[in-house]
Amino acid sequence: MFDLIVKGGTLPDGKVADVGILGDRIAEIGALDDADAGQIIDATGDFVSPPFVDPHFHMDATLSYGQPRINASGTLLEGIGLWGELKQVMTQDDVIERALTYCDWAASMGVLAIRSHVDTCDDRLLGVEAMLDVREKVKGYIDLQLVAFPQDGFYRDPTARANTIRALDMGVDVVGGIPHFERTMAEGDASVKELCAIAAQRGLQVDMHCDETDDPNSRHIETLAFETQRLGLNGRVAGSHLTSMHSMDNYYVSKLLPLMAEAEINAIPNPLINIVLQGRHDTFPKRRGLTRVKEMLAMGINVGWGQDCVLDPWYSLGTADMLDVAFMGLHVAQMTSPEEMNTCFDMVTYNNAKTMGLSDYGLYVGAKASLVVLDASSKIEALRLRANRLFVVSNGKLISKTGRADAELLLPQRAGTMNRRHH
Ligand code: FE2
Repeated sequence: MFDLIVKGGTLPDGKVADVGILGDRIAEIGALDDADAGQIIDATGDFVSPPFVDPHFHMDATLSYGQPRINASGTLLEGIGLWGELKQVMTQDDVIERALTYCDWAASMGVLAIRSHVDTCDDRLLGVEAMLDVREKVKGYIDLQLVAFPQDGFYRDPTARANTIRALDMGVDVVGGIPHFERTMAEGDASVKELCAIAAQRGLQVDMHCDETDDPNSRHIETLAFETQRLGLNGRVAGSHLTSMHSMDNYYVSKLLPLMAEAEINAIPNPLINIVLQGRHDTFPKRRGLTRVKEMLAMGINVGWGQDCVLDPWYSLGTADMLDVAFMGLHVAQMTSPEEMNTCFDMVTYNNAKTMGLSDYGLYVGAKASLVVLDASSKIEALRLRANRLFVVSNGKLISKTGRADAELLLPQRAGTMNRRHH
């Protein structure tokens, strides 16, 4: 007797099998034809995936587009300035309401683990308090990890250092940073060193906005990787964005990549935002600004696509769809072979779960019973269609349903219902 059986779906290993769920765990995978269940989901012909994971987001800023005005230049710097204006007028209730609405979107899209940076450059720490409350409110269905993020610079902003440490004392999970936004390269490096030391001392993970610039001389990732292995933080540190690597000298990168691999750095490119914000100062040719994804993967570095923004001072679109994120990444990084497209899907599931250090993630007996049934037959078809999330199960409970993407053709000769899955 199971609480829930997901029947007949295609699993990530390519096998067609039933998934039997008891409580919040996957209890059995196989042919469960005769088994009883409290609830049965028919996934015949559909791809069943572990949930989508977003390792880079800003939930304190999301769904604020247009408040108090839109970003006219579209640049990162105007976005940071605009966010500074919004911080002056926003209330704790506003932040909580926007974040909870976003979590509803994420749940419906099968995004069940999110790492969100929360701005610590505010003496009231209003956003931090709000996000700690949201983390508690959604914990039954979304794993929300918070990063203490000194948006205006750990040293550059006079009270950021103290407020970031206070935020960690309040229970924020991960140590963040923004070395390329400090006043000098030396200050940036110093911030990386001190923040890594804080993480080592407290036994925390690190995730820094690192080198989010087109400047090839922004090389804080080197210090981040070096400090990671020096302090024994291997595998627990993420470099977010890393866009300067796009513009770096090839010889330098040939020395950097092995250092990153040695430190087991997790890399988080954010393709929707990188393609929108980078290269803004170029004429033509205009740089794409995405970091060196294929080259890092080839070195064995764990790389996963992050979303970063939805409807906020930096990005005017977005839907909480990690398939949109992977789709953009696939194009910008030119990962178009079947093997590379499959990797792009894994980057928004397994690779991101590894970056966040999620336990019991995946579709196997004993794993957490969280999964998504997609209106697609494979990873590649899911990417091509940005397939509907037919059923989303979190911790053994069905939390969202969406209909299939069927169209009814009204052409006289071709009348009938169709779904673009088949080709
Ligand atoms: Fe970010």
